[in-house]
Amino acid sequence: MIILRDAVEVEKIRTASRYAMEILLHVKEAVKDGIKTKELETLCEEKLNRIGKIRPAFKGYSGYPFCLCVSVNEEVVHGMPGERTLKEGDIVSIDFGVEYDGYFGDCALTCGIGKLSQKTEKLLKVTEESLYKGIHEARAGNRLHDISNAVQSHVEAEGFSVVRDFVGHGIGRSLHEEPQVPNFGEKGTGPRLKKGMVLAIEPMVNMGESDVMIKGNGWTAVTKDRSYSAHFEHTVVLNENGAEILSAL
Ligand code: MF3
Ligand code: CO
Repeated sequence: MIILRDAVEVEKIRTASRYAMEILLHVKEAVKDGIKTKELETLCEEKLNRIGKIRPAFKGYSGYPFCLCVSVNEEVVHGMPGERTLKEGDIVSIDFGVEYDGYFGDCALTCGIGKLSQKTEKLLKVTEESLYKGIHEARAGNRLHDISNAVQSHVEAEGFSVVRDFVGHGIGRSLHEEPQVPNFGEKGTGPRLKKGMVLAIEPMVNMGESDVMIKGNGWTAVTKDRSYSAHFEHTVVLNENGAEILSAL
């Protein structure tokens, strides 16, 4: 069942989403050559403690042990903070969700360390653009897969591939609710979009093939061909005339 949220609920999801983005941007500021991914987790925890009244949404979710997902280079999603040291030329996807007063917000971004190859720069640009192409189609009256198709079309036109094994999702009283929001699909198909739907739209885009596999830790998805992968995510609410990004400051 896809739940429609009223204005009071949307404000709570907005509060959660804004805190998530505020902390995500704080962590992003610290990304530089020589930093270990576990140091990003520490920064996140410190900021969470300073703010209070919010809870990291991923920690404890199906047993996931960290606040952040930090996925480097060929890691697609669910990378775990640890001893890996970031260096010039790497890209890092950081994913973070918050629970506030029983409601959830979720967001992600990918950034580079120092100088990147032209193709890697393009991967980040196209992935972020594809998120906004998807958001542009997210409005009452459209179909769910209009969003999916907008993401896929842009990514493939630029020579990259969308991940199919992970999808975006409804979000509200839980981190993951119906519907699933794939990053591929046929225009004009899927459930009709309605005012009050809240979605986490999150393209995951690979430089090479779309296939992924799970690492030995049971969580981290990596590209099968070990090509770089990027990830951007916003939580949005649907209105008649378009979507409003709730995870925007
Ligand atoms: N943003 C991701 C998602 O929606 C992160 C979830 S990580 C998990 O799936 F640990 F919570 F699973
Ligand atoms: Co998500």
